[in-house]
Amino acid sequence: MAGRIPQSFIDELLARVDIVEVIHSRVPLKKVGRNFVARCPFHDEKTPSFTVSPHKQFYYCFGCGASGSAIGFLMAHDHLTFPEAVETLAAQYGMTVPREAAASGAAAVPDRYKELLQLNQEVAVFYARQLRESCGRAAVQYLRRRGVDGATAKRYALGYAPGGWETLCQRFDRARLQEAGLAVAREGGGCYDRFRHRLMFPIRNRRGQVIGFGGRSLEEGSGPKYLNSPETPVFHKGKEVYGLYEMLQACGRPTRILVVEGYMDVIALAQQGIAEVVATLGTAVTQDHLRLLFRHSSVLTFCFDGDRAGRKAAWRALEAALPLVQEGRKVFFLWLPEGEDPDSLVRKEGRESFLQRLRRAEPLSDYFFQTLSEGLNLSRLEDRADLSRRAAPLLRKLPAGPFRRMMQARLVELAGDVGVENTDSHPRSGRFPGLGRPTMAQRVVFLLFHHPELWQKVPASFREAALEGEYGELLATVANAMESGLPLEEVLRNNPHRESLQLEEIPPADPERELTATVQTLLQGHRRQSRLAWLSRKADTEGLTPEEKEELRRLLTAKGHRETDS
Ligand code: UTP
Ligand code: MN
Repeated sequence: MAGRIPQSFIDELLARVDIVEVIHSRVPLKKVGRNFVARCPFHDEKTPSFTVSPHKQFYYCFGCGASGSAIGFLMAHDHLTFPEAVETLAAQYGMTVPREAAASGAAAVPDRYKELLQLNQEVAVFYARQLRESCGRAAVQYLRRRGVDGATAKRYALGYAPGGWETLCQRFDRARLQEAGLAVAREGGGCYDRFRHRLMFPIRNRRGQVIGFGGRSLEEGSGPKYLNSPETPVFHKGKEVYGLYEMLQACGRPTRILVVEGYMDVIALAQQGIAEVVATLGTAVTQDHLRLLFRHSSVLTFCFDGDRAGRKAAWRALEAALPLVQEGRKVFFLWLPEGEDPDSLVRKEGRESFLQRLRRAEPLSDYFFQTLSEGLNLSRLEDRADLSRRAAPLLRKLPAGPFRRMMQARLVELAGDVGVENTDSHPRSGRFPGLGRPTMAQRVVFLLFHHPELWQKVPASFREAALEGEYGELLATVANAMESGLPLEEVLRNNPHRESLQLEEIPPADPERELTATVQTLLQGHRRQSRLAWLSRKADTEGLTPEEKEELRRLLTAKGHRETDS
């Protein structure tokens, strides 16, 4: 690895490069007005919403939100890292990429890196050869028993680590082997092979370099079922997945990626022609994993056991995913029947029913609200408040955009509350500590408390509308009292909301004006919320007409809901 690329060079490169030219050579563009358009290469679409601005030297997709500079485009489209994209562009424009001098001491790192990768590669080749030698017969038989065919074994470069203690140690540099995690130091000096008599799975990075290994024991009771390479300078379990290289070889830009837990699950699915599959390496799903995978597909489906441990792991994956679910990206969960894993299932049911399950995978949104509503009775106000409290901090992790708005709309539908008190767009006033600003419902009660005669000015429809939302019960109580002429002082004495109403504050000079305005706004908000809830439910069940879509878009971007500017 060379030193850093100076920012000044990147600026110069971007000034020199024409993004239209760069994109046009990969995705044919059409000129429309001042811009160029095409069908978006990053998501499926029938009409072009992918736009390239020569003026701004920027691309943007109105469908999926993908956007960036020429460098960003190359990274996303050609699956390149940042330095690779810079190198590619520079080469195209005949420029040489300068590198900042590496800090002292760091100069040795690149070579060590290369050496480790080189050693891993040689060992992988060695293991693969052992599988074909007579000593590898047990491993071959094991593969046969598990139904893995020769082509698949070859594709995944499976190998065999012989049973001796020093098979590698006698053939390769011992210090290097230890650094690569392939040999373990002995207490009294010297070292021995980490992997012995195991079926070997080389783990390759995106570019096909071997960065580590997994090794499966061939017999029960001979040590742990799987041994993996430890963390090394080239191998980080929290950042890498198994099967990425093989997947990209089979399908350059998969429409979705299936994420499973085991090496054998990847192998079995790939053999059945479900090639867009990778596995985590015995660790929880991290944001690094997700970022890596989202670079290659905008749809991820996680496969988990339906049991408690599986649900727990799935929820952690969901939490890691929330900040990354930008426009166009989708996350699904596929729950496996008890006692099955993808390997056993696809073998038992075959490819078609497995694909069927995949198509029925649960969307993140459903899993989210399902889990948060567990144990709650949503016909009760208190439980709806619980749901809102649980959901609000999580929804805040979602990037602003349509998905977050839809999730908020769903929360409104389920809990009758947007959790607005907690969202950033509503600054805390400090007047009601811990509560955010007084809600309009509270204000209405406050005004009626001081001026009961104003009840006549409140339209009849208010009663009905008031019944929903967090303060529904309070408003209903107040309405009943007003109608039966009971003094509010009496009625509110033991009401749990009494404190928050701040009834001792001084009423405004023109209470009637404020009351009518507040009630109007509340009613409008209510009409909008019920329409929104209705539309989003219809969107999920039977779909929306173009007019309804437009209406939904308008409702979601109306004042108070705006989060993104176009
Ligand atoms: P599983 O035990 O579910 O793996 O562990 P599997 O692929 O289904 O195993 P078999 O071969 O069909 O029995 C899932 C993953 O957890 C890690 C490995 O990465 C494995 O693929 N693991 C499991 C370990 O690291 N060590 C173990 O002892 C077991
Ligand atoms: Mn298994």
